[in-house]
Amino acid sequence: MKSYKIALIPGDGIGVPVTEAAWEVLGKAARGAGFSLEGTTFPWSCDFYERTGTMMPADGIETLRSFDAILLGAVGWPARVPDAVSLHGLLLPIRKAFVQYANFRPHRLLPGVEGPLRAGAFDILCIRENTEGEYSGAGGRVHNGTDDEVAVETSIFTRKGVERILRFGFEEARRRRGKLASVTKSNAQKHSMVFWDEVTTRLAADYPDVTVTNYHIDAMAARMVMAPESLDVVVASNLFGDILTDLGAAIQGGLGFAASANINPDRTAPSMFEPVHGSAPDIAHLGIANPIAAIWSGAMMLEHLGERSAAAAVMAAIEAATARGIGTEPGKHRTTEITAAVLAALA
Ligand code: IPM
Ligand code: MN
Repeated sequence: MKSYKIALIPGDGIGVPVTEAAWEVLGKAARGAGFSLEGTTFPWSCDFYERTGTMMPADGIETLRSFDAILLGAVGWPARVPDAVSLHGLLLPIRKAFVQYANFRPHRLLPGVEGPLRAGAFDILCIRENTEGEYSGAGGRVHNGTDDEVAVETSIFTRKGVERILRFGFEEARRRRGKLASVTKSNAQKHSMVFWDEVTTRLAADYPDVTVTNYHIDAMAARMVMAPESLDVVVASNLFGDILTDLGAAIQGGLGFAASANINPDRTAPSMFEPVHGSAPDIAHLGIANPIAAIWSGAMMLEHLGERSAAAAVMAAIEAATARGIGTEPGKHRTTEITAAVLAALA
């Protein structure tokens, strides 16, 4: 029987119960499709930091490298560990070290879920650059604590990085409805963003079957609210993609539905699957976290592993549950009830 080695990093807060829920559903889907998922749980989290002084062991990245994929819940508990420490100690290094340069975030309304917009239907795939740009970590502070204090945070856009994410976007657009929206702010940022636009124009010549439109990030924010049905694939830089995908989550009914996949398209290292939402410490112990985003992310993991029919079965089970009104509104059902409904639909 085919078996996959999965690293589980539940992390903090609601990351723990939603990962557990996703794992249960994925296990059942695997059994149904005749393969097995062999999970190893790593307790790396803010808890772990308080005990050990690091978010993961020094050889954490090397440990993860041998896995077929990583399923992650959420990282961060700012009241206990500063976000800049916890995220730069766990989540962000994994994305960079494993060259997970394409962060895939689908936004559409599940059956039975009412979004806040008039739009009845839309199907947007945001592809966020995930290893450089505004998240490069280049910069520093001098004259700390004085009137002359200076903080510099430099965005880094490389030809390699920009080309590969845009090419990935063009390929996805070709597989979908043939429309690519490239998002920049080249009217104000005249170096990096003009460069991005130039690369978009150059690559477009290789994809005559894809219709390309360049948008500025501000106009794209408005468009996602006013005319989301006009969008197909949206490609954006790391920070712009981060912001647009919370907006995407909002228009699809909330962060409880927004899934994401940090993909290494070259498959030189494991990819990582995680919901867009964070650890939500305020509701962490209430048992009401919506596991759908995590389960959907798990379906994307199965798809990435090549287990297409199991992935489709998980998506169909999510949709069967929401179509019955389960998990469609915040707090209406408990995590365990939503998980049970998805599991039952998988039968
Ligand atoms: C996300 C999150 C992270 C990001 C944070 C937690 C660093 O918001 O995955 O969207 O900005 O990438
Ligand atoms: Mn985010």
